[in-house]
Amino acid sequence: MKHWGKMIGWLGLSALLIALMSSCSGSSGNGESAALSAGKQAGAKAQGDQQEQKLVVGLSIDTLEEERWMKDRDLFKAAVEKLGAAVEVQAANGDDAKQIAQAENMISQGVDVLVVVPHNAEASAAIVAKAHQAGIKVISYDRLIVGSDVDLYISFDNEKAGELQAKAIVAEAPHGNYVLIEGADTDNNAHMFKQGQMNVLKPYVDKGDIRIVYDAFTKEWIPSNARANMDEALMANSNAISAVLAANDGTAGGVIQALTGQGLAGRIPVSGQDAELAAAQRIVEGTQTMTVYKPIPKLAEAAAELAVRMAKGETVHTDKTVFNKKIDVPAILLEPIAVDKSNIDSTIIADGFHKKEDVYRNVK
Ligand code: BGC
Repeated sequence: MKHWGKMIGWLGLSALLIALMSSCSGSSGNGESAALSAGKQAGAKAQGDQQEQKLVVGLSIDTLEEERWMKDRDLFKAAVEKLGAAVEVQAANGDDAKQIAQAENMISQGVDVLVVVPHNAEASAAIVAKAHQAGIKVISYDRLIVGSDVDLYISFDNEKAGELQAKAIVAEAPHGNYVLIEGADTDNNAHMFKQGQMNVLKPYVDKGDIRIVYDAFTKEWIPSNARANMDEALMANSNAISAVLAANDGTAGGVIQALTGQGLAGRIPVSGQDAELAAAQRIVEGTQTMTVYKPIPKLAEAAAELAVRMAKGETVHTDKTVFNKKIDVPAILLEPIAVDKSNIDSTIIADGFHKKEDVYRNVK
């Protein structure tokens, strides 16, 4: 693709950006709803002709109804503002048509770059096409937009996240009846997590040590849907379940409610992901075995830096690509970390992701 001409190593990005920023005009931070007007109109007028207009980054996010996405939004916004640009945030709360309409709106208002957390991996390709018609580049944030010419994908290694989940659970339950409570079918990540889990489980399944007795996606990643699936799995197997792979902490919460209903919470290993506070508490209390910690500040800050560079018309190069059923998308994949009771203090607490007193609130 024409805009990937120049080679700039990932490790050099920070230094390069600092150099770029020092030659850029300073500006004050603004609230998100005012971002476009502040950036495009008031900025130039109020700050004088010699100053450049403030760049505006559009963030189109699937939902803000989960702890992790609020964190992503806040950190991303703060990081972009620190770089002197403004952010316009729109959340679609799980509605594909709404997400497309919101993105179209930001495109027509003239954002300089669009960052998208797609609700639907395929439907969101329409956003990329519309943005490109207007000459705006698109970054796929955390979740891949498939079947599109999206310009950059930044996420964690999602297949590895699934592998970490399965490794931790197999260590607790090397044989028996397994239940897979996966994520939303519409989210490419859900498929990557499952792929990673199966990489680990397959040899055990082939040997006959592990039997997958229930395997379902969770509509919209909603915990009550995960709970209903887990209730079904327990019922169909007369509670004879040895382990549960839950794709994230929200679904793990639903699974653990179902297990609690049968007096089984804490007796069956359950995975999770996101290091949500409720999950961290369940880990120290003993009802959830592990979570996959994905340091969101790293993702949000790297995405902010790249978004601002792309908004300025800079080119970026990545070492990796990920095929999205259409093109090899330049990709940056950060490392996920397995967290259980034994390393929770040295990971999410040491990083300040959660406070120790909050995590251990219910532990005497
Ligand atoms: C993210 C997870 C998140 C899930 C539900 C996935 O795409 O990678 O971190 O828990 O969506 O929102």
